[in-house]
Amino acid sequence: MNHLQLFLPCAAGVEELLGHEVHGITKQPVSVLRGGVMMEGSWRDVMQLNLWSRLAVRVMVQLQHRPYRNEKDLYDAASDVAWELWFTNKNTFKIDITSQHSPLKSLNFAALTIKDAIADRFRHKSGARPDVDTHWPHVHVHAHLNTDSVTLYIDTSGEPLFKRGWRQDKGDAPLKETLAAAMLAASGWSPEQPLYDPCCGSGTIAVEAAQMALNIAPGLQRPFAFERYLPFQKHVWEPIHQQAAEAAVTGPANAQEITIFGSDVAHRMVDFAQRNAERAGVAHALQLRGGDALQRMPPCSTEHKPVMMINPPYGERIEVRGVAGTQQTADTEDFFVQLATHWKSHFDGWTAWILAPDMKLPGRMRLKESRRVPMWNGPIECRLFKFDIQGRRVQPADKAAVQPGAAQ
Ligand SMILES: C[S@@+](CC[C@H](N)C(=O)[O-])C[C@H]1O[C@@H](n2cnc3c(N)ncnc32)[C@H](O)[C@@H]1O
Repeated sequence: MNHLQLFLPCAAGVEELLGHEVHGITKQPVSVLRGGVMMEGSWRDVMQLNLWSRLAVRVMVQLQHRPYRNEKDLYDAASDVAWELWFTNKNTFKIDITSQHSPLKSLNFAALTIKDAIADRFRHKSGARPDVDTHWPHVHVHAHLNTDSVTLYIDTSGEPLFKRGWRQDKGDAPLKETLAAAMLAASGWSPEQPLYDPCCGSGTIAVEAAQMALNIAPGLQRPFAFERYLPFQKHVWEPIHQQAAEAAVTGPANAQEITIFGSDVAHRMVDFAQRNAERAGVAHALQLRGGDALQRMPPCSTEHKPVMMINPPYGERIEVRGVAGTQQTADTEDFFVQLATHWKSHFDGWTAWILAPDMKLPGRMRLKESRRVPMWNGPIECRLFKFDIQGRRVQPADKAAVQPGAAQ
């Protein structure tokens, strides 16, 4: 179990960041591929990655990779894997299949073929086969087909890793925790810098940031599929888990030390965010408030290079509310124009990062971005725009205009 081929998928656009993170966790060489990263690692790496990766969606062990032309080749490829080293006929399993330019006519049939091969192998070896459970299987087998090769993986995570266990209250368009973490990683934010999300919704960005600041492992509160697998050794896992629990910075923070802030126009969302923060063990490190992003003033000074990080209301999935949303002619576009005006008036010296699907957002806001990072929010292609906010400087002529007694 010391030379496992691991593949960690992630959202498109996040691969380089994930490569960096995985290298930091395992200290092993990592290959950055499209859609994820690959590395050779140990069973211990599997556990550490599940526990500590904020950017990976899963940790999978590659068990087969070979050429195929038809279903018979798939059957043979799946039959030749020693599945009985990983799970027993008492476990349930499910095949998830993806493909890129596969010549096969039916992916469903390909998945059935792989399922049959695994079941037949167990029946042959032990006299009984494991059952399929398409809802809550103990074991997820992932098959990926491309033009001429099939790859089979066993998933060690179970529920995808963005399900950290703390977000039970969410709004209409919650950001995946892994994407919130990717936004923070792409921005280069560090916990010494204040962070503010003025459209915080259920608090995903703020909670992720607070967990990073407090060194709380993202997987500390959830179970993993590997805990049911045959190579699992409780006496190895428990100290790893315990060490992570002890690494977290705990204790109530002094109010002056709170530098992570969130607000939302919907008070219901602020309640959700508060409950999520409590479950995530970071409520003492966050300040959450109600309020319109077009009216809220900066929650701190600019002394420590503060950052705004926003997944704003956009388009069909979620509407703008508050001042812009209640105006008769208002729409999303007005919201962004007014947001830019508000920032120029009150957020001089801040850096703002906005994740949006609109490639023309900077023009609409009449702001020039200093960076744009491609990122996918599920199927939606987005950009993470960086704006270095410079307030309106008062010109000498304007100064004259506002002199007491001067004509207005
Ligand atoms: C896309 S959601 C943010 C989701 C959040 N990142 C999460 O993970 O839950 C946009 C949020 O903006 C809020 N919103 C809409 N108009 C607003 C305004 N004028 N000021 C502040 N928040 C606003 C909505 O209530 C919603 O919670």
